[in-house]
Amino acid sequence: MRRTFLTIVVLSFLMQVAAQTPDAKMNTFVANLMSKMTLEEKIGQLNLVTPGWGVPTGSVVSKGVEDNIRKGHVGGLFGIFGPDKVRLAQALAMNESRLKIPLLFGLDVIHGHKTIFPIPLGLSCSWDTALVERSARIAAIEASADGLCWVFSPMVDIARDPRWGRIAEGAGEDPFLGSEMARAMVKGYQGTDLSKDNTVMACVKHFALYGAAEGGRDYNTTDMSRIRMYNEYLPPYKAAVDAGVGSVMSSFNEIDGIPATGNRWLLTSLLRNQWGFKGFVVSDYTSVNEMIAHGVGDLQTASAMALHAGLDMDMVGEGFLTTLQKSLKAGKVTIKQIDDACKRILEAKYKLGLFQDPYRYVNSGRPEKEILTAQNRQAARETAVRSMVLLKNEGRILPLKKSGTIALIGPLANNHSEMLGTWAVSGDNTKSVTIQQGMQNVAGNSVQILFARGANITDDTSFAKRISPFGKPTEIDARSPDTLIQEAVAAAGKADVVVVVVGEAAEMSGESASRTDLDLPGSQRKLVEALVKTGKPLVVVLMNGRPLAIPWLNEQAPAILEAWFPGTEAGNAVADVLFGNYNPSGKLTTSFPRNVGQIPVYYNHKNTGRPFEGGAPKFKSNYLDVQNEPLYPFGYGLSYTNFTYDSIKLSRNTFSAGQSITASVMVTNAGDVAGEETVQLYIRDVEASVTRPVKELKGFQKVVLKAHESAKVEFTITENDLKFYNSELKYVAEPGEFKVFIGTNSRDVKETGFRLVK
Ligand code: BGC
Repeated sequence: MRRTFLTIVVLSFLMQVAAQTPDAKMNTFVANLMSKMTLEEKIGQLNLVTPGWGVPTGSVVSKGVEDNIRKGHVGGLFGIFGPDKVRLAQALAMNESRLKIPLLFGLDVIHGHKTIFPIPLGLSCSWDTALVERSARIAAIEASADGLCWVFSPMVDIARDPRWGRIAEGAGEDPFLGSEMARAMVKGYQGTDLSKDNTVMACVKHFALYGAAEGGRDYNTTDMSRIRMYNEYLPPYKAAVDAGVGSVMSSFNEIDGIPATGNRWLLTSLLRNQWGFKGFVVSDYTSVNEMIAHGVGDLQTASAMALHAGLDMDMVGEGFLTTLQKSLKAGKVTIKQIDDACKRILEAKYKLGLFQDPYRYVNSGRPEKEILTAQNRQAARETAVRSMVLLKNEGRILPLKKSGTIALIGPLANNHSEMLGTWAVSGDNTKSVTIQQGMQNVAGNSVQILFARGANITDDTSFAKRISPFGKPTEIDARSPDTLIQEAVAAAGKADVVVVVVGEAAEMSGESASRTDLDLPGSQRKLVEALVKTGKPLVVVLMNGRPLAIPWLNEQAPAILEAWFPGTEAGNAVADVLFGNYNPSGKLTTSFPRNVGQIPVYYNHKNTGRPFEGGAPKFKSNYLDVQNEPLYPFGYGLSYTNFTYDSIKLSRNTFSAGQSITASVMVTNAGDVAGEETVQLYIRDVEASVTRPVKELKGFQKVVLKAHESAKVEFTITENDLKFYNSELKYVAEPGEFKVFIGTNSRDVKETGFRLVK
């Protein structure tokens, strides 16, 4: 009888455990583990280190890492990859630490791991979320095959200042598009099951407003109204959170006078309480320590402030490791705060499946089979062609014929080392395809290519050093600049057409790469001007990580292709577009200014009370010396064909909550070749309780049209699309009049309007 009773009790307990939801099981597991942990071990979990055995991504590396792992003083490692290295480090934790808690292994996998895709700014110009998701999926497969389970991506900082070099790492100036890209990348990295061995945890960064640094100088102060934050800068981070991103990285800048890393409003009230974020927050590289320079006090104070704010993991600086015990004794932090942070990190490890198998991502057979495969390279090539933006094509100089002689000129024309762009920390330059190689691959032997370097990226030796932080300085040819130009002009003289590849070195954009002059460096400008003078048909291929201010180039060069930094398959992809194997379809996600003085210049600005819309300019909002409009607007990009738009048809002229309006337009491919168009929908709220932007992107669709084919493109507009944060930060749609625009870019649109009634 007694035995039966016991059996029933045990069985019902087991059934309860078995019936637990996955979350409940995780909670039980983590609580059980934490009950065995000492305070020191809990704080150890909050420590993220970079041992310097791999790729350093900052100016300091961690010391005594192996010993700290043994002591349980490390929660995760970044900057190393490869199954063998990762196995060694994981084995230290599993075999030599008391509780055998597996480590996280992270890395900056930003636009591919070893198969490098275009820089994120380029990726966003594809306006193709499925393509972007696939690039993140491939990056996740390669990263996980290389021992990693956590990537410091996506970067979703809205950037409207191209002086800021990190504009290269995000999706440009628009919150709607930025949100779409954020979602796509999170989905691509994390898939549907984080515990699979080929999915990785994403980390959305840099929370928040990092792209709004004053003067475009990296790490600089940001200051903006809450209403602007909510409407314009926060949506992409929120989209990543809504998509289930596992971790968030705090930013270097201050917000409302409080560094983001120690900002409780940001990390707790907004992120956790308002948005419901359940993952963990990691600092940026030593950003806890940097709070001292911001002026909040010493390391102990900064660390306590950061923990209290809701920061869970301290990257590199070891402020948590060295001061939290003291702060706990002094009553400056609570054990609950330490427990909460530790719990969130253990939960992430649990979700990644590391407690079931700490070596889940460590499989020496995988890299060979899964990294830099022909398939992955092909995907990178397909992605790169769709990221390029045709800025100009006068006289239909492009596509090039696959015959005759081409003079291929420029410091980036036969160059492996700059093709990957910034933040390709595990990419191998030597595996990249140069433009010269790509053109020969695509055009074959029927084309003769004459190469001349023509110019250095820069002739300034100290600048060359500044833009090569991790290696040997950007190469400067021993020959004089004049000799280089003469050689290029001579090559041009023998050719039917000239292709010149100019722009930035990879590290002229990216972190700590702010510029105040956005022209081509002088050496390259001189080269292009000399080539223009030859009178030969000239195609300029630009490689750069930010919009450049190049009105002179737009005036002088008949054809310009913005290639960004295309990645591993750079040369093949550029050649695919130049020779017309792919008809370009990319559209800018960031406005190109005419000069630096125009910055910030972005399409979704507010109106003034005195807008300049033609007529006499006096007492109107404009400059004496340059027009208001950018050189190339947001959404702009040409094709080898051209698309025409009929006027917009609305299904109704008024609607109320719960209803919707269909806006449709006939789009025609009016040219002789097939092409792909991104049809863009914008709205403007002209009667609102707070002023709204002159245009806001609310939808886009891609259509592929054969020559002379037409298609009807339809957008459904609901009340939700008209919502914004009002002055009480309530997300509302207000009745009144709206304009609706559909077009090929943010400037060239058809227009009509409707009313929302209550
Ligand atoms: C950057 C982050 C990066 C981190 C780790 C920092 O300097 O701001 O974007 O993820 O380093 O490499």
